[in-house]
Amino acid sequence: MAPDTLTVTQKNDPLAEAGHRKDPTAGLGPGNEAEDPLVRVRGLSRRFGSRTVLDSIDVDIGAGEFVALLGRSGSGKSTLLRALAGLDQDIEGQVHVPAKRAVAFQDSRLLPWQKVLPNVALGLRGDRPVERATAALDEVGLADREKSWPKELSGGEQQRVSLARALVREPELLLADEPFGALDALTKVKMHGLLRELLAKHRPSVLLVTHDIDEALLLADRILVLDEGRISTDVRIPAPHPRSIAEPELSTLRTALLQGLGVDPAI
Ligand SMILES: Nc1ncnc2c1ncn2[C@@H]1O[C@H](COP(=O)(O)OP(=O)(O)O)[C@@H](O)[C@H]1O
Ligand SMILES: [Mg+2]
Repeated sequence: MAPDTLTVTQKNDPLAEAGHRKDPTAGLGPGNEAEDPLVRVRGLSRRFGSRTVLDSIDVDIGAGEFVALLGRSGSGKSTLLRALAGLDQDIEGQVHVPAKRAVAFQDSRLLPWQKVLPNVALGLRGDRPVERATAALDEVGLADREKSWPKELSGGEQQRVSLARALVREPELLLADEPFGALDALTKVKMHGLLRELLAKHRPSVLLVTHDIDEALLLADRILVLDEGRISTDVRIPAPHPRSIAEPELSTLRTALLQGLGVDPAI
């Protein structure tokens, strides 16, 4: 294990026992400041009435880094993503994110009264928006569907359009909230492959909210777990791509993450 990792000595902590829980400041530079992170969050809190959903969160995301955010349902994952997207004005704390960011959700949020191509080109600035939107559709394998209505596409195809719409903007930060959560298993596997291909080309930083541990393990450079308003786990996954969930290192980490999320891995 790299010397900058620190194992927390919390009792009965499966992640610590597996050697995977890190000091959240590990890897940061002198004074615990990451060197010029793309995303820098300090003391982020969000309360709804008397409920504190995010409790003074600190997190950095580096340029080009792919971070998956796990957590139980209701733990605040979407709340954190919305804060980073700039969609929530009622937060406390500091959130520095690049202006060039794009958001993708579980439902593709395509405008039903627009065909596929104008949906991708919508609001696109700069030169030749239609040509760029056409090229983006080609990248996600949907060049022949540009004149279709959204409702004529399958769920997987709609999500591919949603990815094209996000990436055509060449975001520095892609924020995705369970984008594959409603897809069947086979389509999801294909989408994972497509996403990795697109990211290799466009190289944005990514925050992927997911409840799917395998998805996080297969795709991300780093996994965060949100629990009781705090980042309870921050772990790097150095395995090269493409990955298989059967790899022993990932399998051990998977068990530890499941236990950390309060799920019995035997089920
Ligand atoms: N606009 C809101 N008003 C009141 N409570 C909210 C609002 N948005 C989210 N919450 C609450 O915050 C908690 C976290 O929600 P959310 O971030 O959607 O969780 P997750 O995405 O992890 O499932 C939930 O208990 C939810 O009910
Ligand atoms: Mg959510």
